Amino acid sequence: MVRARVRMGIQAYTAISVFAAIVGLSMGAVATGADMAPERRADLMNLLVQDCGSCHGLTMKGGLGSPLLPANLEGKDADVLAEVILDGIPDTPMPPWRGQLTEAEAIWMAEQLKKGIK
Ligand code: HEC
Repeated sequence: MVRARVRMGIQAYTAISVFAAIVGLSMGAVATGADMAPERRADLMNLLVQDCGSCHGLTMKGGLGSPLLPANLEGKDADVLAEVILDGIPDTPMPPWRGQLTEAEAIWMAEQLKKGIK
C-alpha cells in the first residue's frame, strides 16, 4: 500500500517535471528563435548585413540609419526594437518590415544586434 502510494507520487512528480520542461522549452523557443530553421537564420543574418546594413552600415556603425551596435542598443528592449523593425519609424527612412518578418524573427534579429553581429 505504502509502496504503491510512493510510486504514484513519483509518477505524478515525473509527469509534472516533463510538463514543466516542455512548457519551458517552448517558451524559450519563441523568445530565442531556437525553433527557427538554420536556413532561415542564415537568411535573416544576410538581411541584417545586406539590407539593414545598406542604411545602418555593414558593420552597424551607422550611416543614413543610426548605429545599431550593442552599446547603442543597451537599455533598449529586444521587444521594443522588434516593434521598430516591424513598423518602421514614420517620417524617417526607416521602413517597416512587417510582412517580410514574423514577430519572433524580428525579436531574434533585435537580439542579434544587441549581442553584436560579427
Ligand atoms: C532605407 C534606410 C534604412 C533601412 C534599409 C533600415 N533602416 Fe533602420 N533606421 C533607419 C533610420 C534613418 C533610422 C533612425 C530614424 C530616426 O529615429 O531618425 C533607423 C532606426 C532603426 C532602429 C532604431 C534604433 C534605435 O536606437 O532605437 C532599429 C532597431 C533599426 N533601424 C533596425 C533596422 C533593421 C533591423 C533593418 C533591416 C531589417 C533596418 N533598420 C533597415 C534607416 C533604415
